[in-house]
Amino acid sequence: MDQLTKDRWDRAARSFDLMAGYGPEKRWAPYKQEFFERMGEGRVLFLAVGTGLDIRFFPPGRKLVGIDISDKMLDVARPRLEAYDGEIDVRVMDVHEMPFPDDEFDQVFTSCTFCSVPNPVKGLQALHRVLKPGGELHMFEHTGSSYYPFRMMMDLMTPLLRARGTEMNRNTVANVEAAGFELREVKHVFLDVVKTIHATA
Ligand SMILES: C[S@@+](CC[C@H](N)C(=O)[O-])C[C@H]1O[C@@H](n2cnc3c(N)ncnc32)[C@H](O)[C@@H]1O
Repeated sequence: MDQLTKDRWDRAARSFDLMAGYGPEKRWAPYKQEFFERMGEGRVLFLAVGTGLDIRFFPPGRKLVGIDISDKMLDVARPRLEAYDGEIDVRVMDVHEMPFPDDEFDQVFTSCTFCSVPNPVKGLQALHRVLKPGGELHMFEHTGSSYYPFRMMMDLMTPLLRARGTEMNRNTVANVEAAGFELREVKHVFLDVVKTIHATA
């Protein structure tokens, strides 16, 4: 397990809802609602549970495996996990070292995670491995921007935020293709910074 990343998120757990729960999460709520409507009835992997802010958007009655590297984030998520009208089997796990067999899942959902996974292409390759052939990857992610002023701002902010474990300027769409996925759809939620990415294994 990547101890540095785990420690960073363990430290963030207590203040995460205060930082993310009231501003950004309110802003993204309608888009996340629409995003998670694609969650089907097959075997679903969700990365990363965090404090469970996304759970209210899950359609009822689904059976998921939810993972996160930080047990402290999952401790905060507990009441939200218990309130879900379905099944979420939660495990503390690093996406780079998932012990699941190959071709295990029909769908993988990620939410606001690939700006902080240390090795994004390796992490995406790991998700590719556990998806069945033709299985679906659905991502709701912050990425770098192709618009000059935003790109410059993010390039400047990235070294400052890297110490907190967040990379602002990643090209996640290119990383998805580099990991072997076939891109199906990319939708911009806020400029080209917050986007949904849909791909198949
Ligand atoms: C910004 S939070 C997002 C949480 C939640 N999806 C949300 O939107 O509220 C990022 C989460 O990714 C988890 N994470 C970071 N790197 C990880 C890794 N390598 N494997 C599993 N989880 C990881 C962190 O512990 C944290 O809970």
